[in-house]
Amino acid sequence: MHVYEAVNSRRAVRAFSDEPVSKDVLERVLAAAAQAPSSGNLQPWHVYVVTGEPLAELKRRATARALAGEPGDEREYPMYPAELTSPYLERFSAAAAQRYKALGIRRDDPERPMKIAALNSDAFGAPVVLFCYLDRTMGPGQWGDAGMYLQTVMLLLRAEGLHSCPQVMWTMYRRTVSQLVGADDGRVLFCGVAVGFEKEGVPHIRTGRADMAETVSFVGV
Ligand SMILES: Cc1cc2nc3c(=O)[nH]c(=O)nc-3n(C[C@H](O)[C@H](O)[C@H](O)COP(=O)(O)O)c2cc1C
Repeated sequence: MHVYEAVNSRRAVRAFSDEPVSKDVLERVLAAAAQAPSSGNLQPWHVYVVTGEPLAELKRRATARALAGEPGDEREYPMYPAELTSPYLERFSAAAAQRYKALGIRRDDPERPMKIAALNSDAFGAPVVLFCYLDRTMGPGQWGDAGMYLQTVMLLLRAEGLHSCPQVMWTMYRRTVSQLVGADDGRVLFCGVAVGFEKEGVPHIRTGRADMAETVSFVGV
């Protein structure tokens, strides 16, 4: 698969089939993704690959918490700035309006937060979730490295015919996740990434992007 095709066909998929993903494929992807760049070559990420009965158990525990409507564990890092200013607020609102519409969750549904949490805690039906942690001592530079690494993973998954959805929502259940994977308190959960084959026939809306002039400035070109 051409790299442009991998980039253009990657999107946050929110409906996976239960077709299993082989360990060979996951190992091939993660071995190649290790080539992702990192400042000082620190490779500051640590990934737990969870599938099978441990994932089923984690989904059960997290979904029970979601359906109980609880606010979740206290966050270890803010998902977003306390105040989103323009143009970020507009972009956030536009994406939020589309994100779960295709899955039939209305914006005025009073149970919307609980339904969204429940979909996420089931990893949208994915048979594998990668949990990406960073050592607690790491700073903003290393969090950037982890983003590059996860995008590399997600593009390689496309080359294997697989899809993904990065999920910061797992940080709401970070204690449950850490207990299940055996991560000690020295590690901070960045996010989960749901992995699997896309479920056929589920409608989705392609998320838009800002015009290039809004996000890129050419200087001397
Ligand atoms: C770090 C990170 C965390 C995310 N967390 C969630 C999440 O918890 N739930 C979800 O449905 N989508 C999540 N997303 C997906 C974004 O909503 C999505 O990438 C964005 O709207 C752009 O859409 P696209 O990826 O389909 O192009 C996350 C994306 C990133 C990069």
